[in-house]
Amino acid sequence: MTDPLPPEMAAALAASAGRRGGLGDVVHYYDEIGSTNDVAAQLAEHGAAHGTLVLAGRQTAGRGRMGRPWFSPPGAGLYASLVLRSAAVAPVVTLACGVAVARGVTAATGLPVEIKWPNDIVVPDDTAGRRQWRKLAGILAEASLGGGGVADLMLGFGVNLAAAAYPPEVAGQATSLESELGRPVDGGAVLAAVLVALAVAIGQIETGRVGEVLDAWRAAAPGLPGRSVAFEAGGGRRRGTVSGIDSDGALLVRTEAGVERVISGEVIWT
Ligand code: BTN
Repeated sequence: MTDPLPPEMAAALAASAGRRGGLGDVVHYYDEIGSTNDVAAQLAEHGAAHGTLVLAGRQTAGRGRMGRPWFSPPGAGLYASLVLRSAAVAPVVTLACGVAVARGVTAATGLPVEIKWPNDIVVPDDTAGRRQWRKLAGILAEASLGGGGVADLMLGFGVNLAAAAYPPEVAGQATSLESELGRPVDGGAVLAAVLVALAVAIGQIETGRVGEVLDAWRAAAPGLPGRSVAFEAGGGRRRGTVSGIDSDGALLVRTEAGVERVISGEVIWT
């Protein structure tokens, strides 16, 4: 059973109706659930419409990339997943989501943010003399095989709205909108702005303008080309210099062996 949508979410969705390309026209809100991505997958399996949105006030089993937990306490974050039925464009839709979260956060709050590969939304911090980041939001895209062999995409995003007692392993790197801005932030406004920005990016993809999405992603990740990185490949650690990303979002790293595509895993920014 769903719970009533909090008033600030309902108001922001109502105010942005017609500009979200149908994203969030159907909303399932839960005060508490395991993971919005799991609920989105179940809904997709039962035929949920493209753009169906699952929101939670708290996740008890929120997860991030690489099987890591995503700390999801009540009142401190936006926990959202969309059911997308545009499997053919899945890799670039994930990049589009990064662009949309970055744009949505900035549009709703004025806070400038960047994307850190693969798709973390971060606040840059150059105070230590070299580029570092505090992580504000993350994206988890998971595909599942729906009816008729057509893949669905569960596009989950979590945005830290207010500071929380983060677990020690993330405490040093995490931040929230309230911590950055020194004032509380309307989670509904952030949600609506992200959905509007995502609708624009999906529109670009659907009209063959994938390059615009990639350009927007690259513009939001200005420090990427030329960065020195280390990564695990073929059972060993490799080092190289980033030359960019390709249209699947893979990191392109120039190493002694040539340009290598890094698809997933841990990249160390050296
Ligand atoms: C990451 O940076 O590791 C990705 C984090 C994604 C978190 C969101 S919160 C809503 C959705 N439900 C989940 O369980 N995870 C994603």
